[in-house]
This record gives sequence, C-alpha cells and structure tokens, in this order.
Amino acid sequence: MILNRVIAPAVVAGLALCVGVASVGAHGDVAPQPVDTTGLEQLGEQWRSKNPYVGNETAIKIGSSGYNQNCARCHGLDVISGGLAPDLRYLEKGEVGDEWFMERIRRGATINGVTKMPGFEGVLSQEAMWAIRAFIESKHDG
Ligand code: HEC
Repeated sequence: MILNRVIAPAVVAGLALCVGVASVGAHGDVAPQPVDTTGLEQLGEQWRSKNPYVGNETAIKIGSSGYNQNCARCHGLDVISGGLAPDLRYLEKGEVGDEWFMERIRRGATINGVTKMPGFEGVLSQEAMWAIRAFIESKHDG
C-alpha cells in the first residue's frame, strides 16, 4: 500500500512531464533558441561591421550549436542546404560576406510582403550572431 502511494503520484507526474515535453516539442523548432556565448569577448552595444571572431575556435563551437538550433531548419544541417533557403557555404568570405550576413540575420528577409526569413535582432545577441557567422565561414566552399 505504501508502495502504491509512492509510485502512483510518480507515474502521474511522469505522464504529465511527457505531455509537457511533447507539446513543447511541437513548437520547439520554430521558437528561436537563445545561444550561450560564455567564453567569448563581449562586444558592447556598438554593432561591428566585421566579424571579431573569425577563425576563433570557441566561437565556431558556440556558433555551430546556435546555427543548428536557429538556422538549420531552413538552411540545412551543417550548412548544407536542402534547397529551402540559400546554401550559406557559398556566402562570400570576409567583410563583404559579413555585411550581408548581418543585414540578413538582424532584419531577416521579407519579399513581396512574405516573411521568408525572420529577423533575429533582439532575439540573438551580437556575440551569438558573429559566432554563427564564424561557424558558417568555417564551412565555406568554393
Ligand atoms: C524560416 C526559414 C529561415 C530561417 C529560420 C533562417 N533563414 Fe536565412 N534565409 C531564408 C531564406 C528563404 C533566404 C533567402 C531570402 C531571399 O530570397 O533573398 C535566407 C537568406 C539568408 C542569408 C542571405 C543568403 C544569400 O545568399 O543572399 C543569410 C546570410 C541567412 N539567411 C542567414 C541565416 C541565419 C544565420 C539564420 C539563423 C540565425 C537564418 N538565416 C535563419 C530562410 C531562413
């Protein structure tokens, strides 16, 4: 009897947990995911025009998880596009690419009134954005 009293609430709690997780999962790939940038030089309020973390191993690692959580569903896992959105392996390297990258990641892309890509300004920190850029550039092709 004592055992039952202990187990039954645990089972109920377990079920509730499953339902909770399932309903979060249904939306989980759409909600922007925060990116923990601990370990990176903090950049302050001023927007940089070029990537302060280019080639930085810590940034590439943080950017890899930031990318896979926020960008991969459209741009493809590991920056290999399945055709839904441009293949970012071909985004120009260096400052020209940096500028276009920042324009898109901050403001997104709305074409003929249709939001093709959401803007991430106010969602991701500048540090997280440049870390994602460092990761994308590390996968550059061509
Ligand atoms: C909902 C789908 C979607 C998500 C999520 C998304 N993008 Fe995009 N992105 C697009 C589409 C579609 C375009 C092409 C827009 C156009 O036609 O100019 C694009 C364009 C871009 C471009 C310009 C590429 C070029 O060659 O002109 C960059 C850079 C970019 N996205 C980066 C990102 C990053 C970084 C993330 C994650 C933080 C991200 N995107 C998340 C759909 C998405």
